[in-house]
Amino acid sequence: MRSFVLREGRLTAAQARAYQQLWPRYGCDWQPEQRLDMVALFGNDRPVVLEIGFGNGEALLHMAASHPERNYLGLEVHRPGVGHLLMELERAGLDNVRVMREDAAALLAHALPPASLAGVCLFFPDPWPKKRHHKRRIVQPAFIDDLARVLAPGGFLHAATDWAPYADWMLEQLRAAADRFENLSPSGDFVARPEERPLTRFERRGARLGQPARDLLLRRRA
Ligand SMILES: C[S@@+](CC[C@H](N)C(=O)[O-])C[C@H]1O[C@@H](n2cnc3c(N)ncnc32)[C@H](O)[C@@H]1O
Repeated sequence: MRSFVLREGRLTAAQARAYQQLWPRYGCDWQPEQRLDMVALFGNDRPVVLEIGFGNGEALLHMAASHPERNYLGLEVHRPGVGHLLMELERAGLDNVRVMREDAAALLAHALPPASLAGVCLFFPDPWPKKRHHKRRIVQPAFIDDLARVLAPGGFLHAATDWAPYADWMLEQLRAAADRFENLSPSGDFVARPEERPLTRFERRGARLGQPARDLLLRRRA
């Protein structure tokens, strides 16, 4: 069961050029069952933060520019969004980002070694509001098990959504994993938006529609 429906969308000429010229520099192809080697991927052993479903890469670009001491691995299946990010990475001259166009669920389950990540960001995942589609939501018990496995002890999980029922869904599922995830909210639920997460297009739209974002911040227990 996939958490996305692939609408290919047309690449602009600039995005197509970005793929041709920049994929070798920033992109990473993956063969099913292949284990990723982070040091080989980034050429250094700095801590790696994963962003799942980066959209057009606005938040990823901001985080990577603010944290040159970290590496960022971005996952997205939507080609135009990937093309857009590639162009922006080149423009910003960033070297601490690698990009994969893969299903995050498959990568978490098969490609990422245990305790290989310092953090995971999941910003505005597709909410799948209809009840019969809830099984498509990316946050599911098996996904949380995989996150717990790939996060290093002390690593963070930062999720945000502007769909209140999905926020409650995530909170409930993460409470069920409280043996592995400590919720860093003083009230035991949500936190104010950490500065780390820039306002994205999705969030501004949600706020206009009267759907404020909620942030969840948790730490992988040792
Ligand atoms: C609602 S958009 C939010 C994009 C971005 N995070 C933002 O805040 O603007 C959700 C994104 O997640 C991507 N996505 C959904 N399921 C995914 C998966 N299993 N693996 C990788 N990307 C996924 C979709 O392609 C889509 O671009």
